Amino acid sequence: MATTMTLLIAVVTLAAVAGVNGQGDLTRVAGASGADVVEAVTHAISESCVFNNDHRMLRRLARVVSNDGLDPNTYRFGFEGGIWQVNQTDFQLTQSSALVQQYLVPIRNAFNIDWTSVTWSDLRKPLYSGLAAMLTLVRASANVPHPSAGNTRATGNMFPRTSELQAMFYQNNLKSGLNGSAYAFTQAIKGLTLSCGTDKVDIAFLVDSSVSLSPDDFLRAKTFASEVVKDSNVNTNGVRVAFVSFSTGYTVHFIFNQYTSVTAVRQAIANIQPKLGNTDTHLALKYATDTLFTVQSGSRSDAARIAIVLTDGQSDDSLASKRNAAALRQKGVTVFVIGVGTDTDVTELNALASEPTCTHVQNLDQYSELDSLKTEIRQVSCETSVKFPAPTTTNNNIHTTYQCGKTNSFQIGTGQETTITIRPKNGLVEVFGSYGFGKPSASRNEFTALASSTRPVAIYIKDTTLPLFLTIQSDPTKSGQCGSEYDLDIVLGDHLQRISENVCLERGKVRLCTPLDLLKALYTVVQLNPVNPGFPNPCVNQVGHYYHHPYEPRRFIYCDGAGNLYDVYCYPNQFYLDSARDCVLGNPPVVTSAPVTTQRPFTPRPTTRPPYTRPPPVTTPAATASLVTVASGSLCANCTNGNWNQGKRFFAYPGNDTMYIMCTEYVGVCNVKQCAIYHKWNQVDQACTYENIVLDWTKDQYQTSPHPIDYLCKQGQGDNDMYFHPHPVDQTKYIQCDEFGDAFVKECQNGEIWSQQLMTCVPGQPRVIG
Ligand SMILES: *[C@@H]1O[C@H](CO)[C@@H](O)[C@H](O)[C@H]1NC(C)=O
Ligand SMILES: *[C@@H]1O[C@H](CO)[C@@H](O)[C@H](O)[C@H]1NC(C)=O
Ligand SMILES: *[C@@H]1O[C@H](CO)[C@@H](O)[C@H](O)[C@H]1NC(C)=O
Ligand SMILES: *[C@@H]1O[C@H](CO)[C@@H](O)[C@H](O)[C@H]1NC(C)=O
Repeated sequence: MATTMTLLIAVVTLAAVAGVNGQGDLTRVAGASGADVVEAVTHAISESCVFNNDHRMLRRLARVVSNDGLDPNTYRFGFEGGIWQVNQTDFQLTQSSALVQQYLVPIRNAFNIDWTSVTWSDLRKPLYSGLAAMLTLVRASANVPHPSAGNTRATGNMFPRTSELQAMFYQNNLKSGLNGSAYAFTQAIKGLTLSCGTDKVDIAFLVDSSVSLSPDDFLRAKTFASEVVKDSNVNTNGVRVAFVSFSTGYTVHFIFNQYTSVTAVRQAIANIQPKLGNTDTHLALKYATDTLFTVQSGSRSDAARIAIVLTDGQSDDSLASKRNAAALRQKGVTVFVIGVGTDTDVTELNALASEPTCTHVQNLDQYSELDSLKTEIRQVSCETSVKFPAPTTTNNNIHTTYQCGKTNSFQIGTGQETTITIRPKNGLVEVFGSYGFGKPSASRNEFTALASSTRPVAIYIKDTTLPLFLTIQSDPTKSGQCGSEYDLDIVLGDHLQRISENVCLERGKVRLCTPLDLLKALYTVVQLNPVNPGFPNPCVNQVGHYYHHPYEPRRFIYCDGAGNLYDVYCYPNQFYLDSARDCVLGNPPVVTSAPVTTQRPFTPRPTTRPPYTRPPPVTTPAATASLVTVASGSLCANCTNGNWNQGKRFFAYPGNDTMYIMCTEYVGVCNVKQCAIYHKWNQVDQACTYENIVLDWTKDQYQTSPHPIDYLCKQGQGDNDMYFHPHPVDQTKYIQCDEFGDAFVKECQNGEIWSQQLMTCVPGQPRVIG
């Protein structure tokens, strides 16, 4: 029994903090390993743009040399080179070689690592090992001619583009020409399949058809586009493709909703004819922004939207091109730019592309090199995140659905106040989030959360301009994970929910969600002036956080602990119930609470009926109940979302009416509570009520004697003794003592019952307590 309880409490504690779990960064934890860690390291390095595009060579190398660190020899005794197995000689060269000096300042700026003071054993941390391997690759490639001979603009340190060329590079420069190394490289990376996120991708090719170089070049450009889409899942719900060529003006060959199969798309590409002329890049970009990436052309706002601009010359209106590309990116379209030949302007290409340009711009010497890019472009387009702008009015709230079983990444614009809700239709999905960097994952994130069909994740964002990056993933082969779909809603304002895993982000920081966040999401909350709220401020010397409103049963007062007080308005069909610390469904009891006087009531001489002075008040006495245990399972069966949302949160405890069940905001977890002594649970009143006669409510004395009257009145009663008592069985009666210790049973008038708290009869009907 004791073990079960500990377990249950552990579960609850976990759930309570899970919303702000995280600040996880395995890339800096010594000894971490696995594909996810390697992806996080290589993504962080490529996103930093410290090095030239390595065309995923670093990622492949990790698989080749240590199976992503999973090889049991990776962290062997006496060898500190980590996942990338950088030996001590090579490591020392990363600090001493003149060839890598230029990278040390960028490394410090991007990663806050002073490379000169790094030691070999630091390479046990994956990020350090990856950086050391990258510096080693730079050193090894420095004297190697660029794979495409004749590259005039390469500033050095260019890395081989294809995996075949990388395998040769590995054999020749990292393995001292050891025969078979290239083969081993190629074998090892076979398991590295394309890691695609969503299928929901809109991909548009904007291709320069003015072809200044050779008649075959446009054919090569078409083949490239055709190869990029070759293995894509082209259909209405999957990948959609559009193709626009430009020279003098632009020609729309097909738009997103035109073809629904790969075969049809590839056939259409094959039929396109070049048209010679100028380089009106700006017109193609404008068309893409205004017409192509719209619903009318079949583009979906909840898809990853990609434009691939392929050109071999300078735009005829560079300024307009830059402006129009900026407008396209602003719409949430990720722009990749491929420049071919020597006639392009690198500055212009960088200005067209999405950030970071080191991963979104490719410079090629000639069209024949395009083939080497097809796998990489396929990979990066798969990884492109869906970009959503922050809703600025409720009209551009976003409600959308994605398939489970994928790894979807999102970049969500933020603004004044946004709530993002993730709710799987079944099972659970994992959510990883970050502000500072893209593609958060289990290995590197600023927060994590778990969304289930019964408990969605709600992320509340306030006062932030940085975009939020989210990765949402599920693996239906793992038990409990979502196998169908999940809903993603991005809406203006605070829409946190009680039954959800809530994450709050403010000014770029993850913080705990406060009760005030929740109250604001649920009700109208008005902050009051603490100096003069219009009634005695309960937040001064506050003992709790929730208080009855002094005169309005459909409102309550919340004190935040910092001296601020808030007036909270329940919905019209609700009232505030103190034992629930919340608004609950229904009408307030006819008699509302009267302030319980701390002074002893004035007791008149015991011969007359006590004067009827006050208007009807008095609620069910809310007795102090104590927590017995935290439970789950069948005991909490009544704690459903439906009941909770209707305000039904308290239930009888089966088989023992001195206890009751209090639901928590976590579905399936409830508290078992024990009523105070001599109290019993009353489902109608939703409270523990007196079980037997009250001897002296001010002294908390109760009596269960069958003849309580015998003991009620003391001989020589003084002013400090109780003169009035409730009748043990009949609420329409009361017992009055006189100063000599005599007891009198008195009757209230018709239609009235005795109120012990007010020491008087009040209008009301006797309650049947079952
Ligand atoms: C360290 O690794 C490099 C390849 O990166 C290799 O050429 C060199 O021989 C190795 N040095 C030692 C001492 O093993
Ligand atoms: C690699 O094999 C080739 C023949 O296949 C041979 O000529 C060459 O010497 C070998 N190189 C090394 C370093 O073993
Ligand atoms: C709670 O659930 C039980 C069955 O598990 C049911 O008999 C009972 O009526 C429910 N109580 C309330 C108040 O809904
Ligand atoms: C109910 O619970 C209380 C305390 O947990 C216990 O003393 C009492 O005997 C129980 N009553 C019944 C009827 O089981």
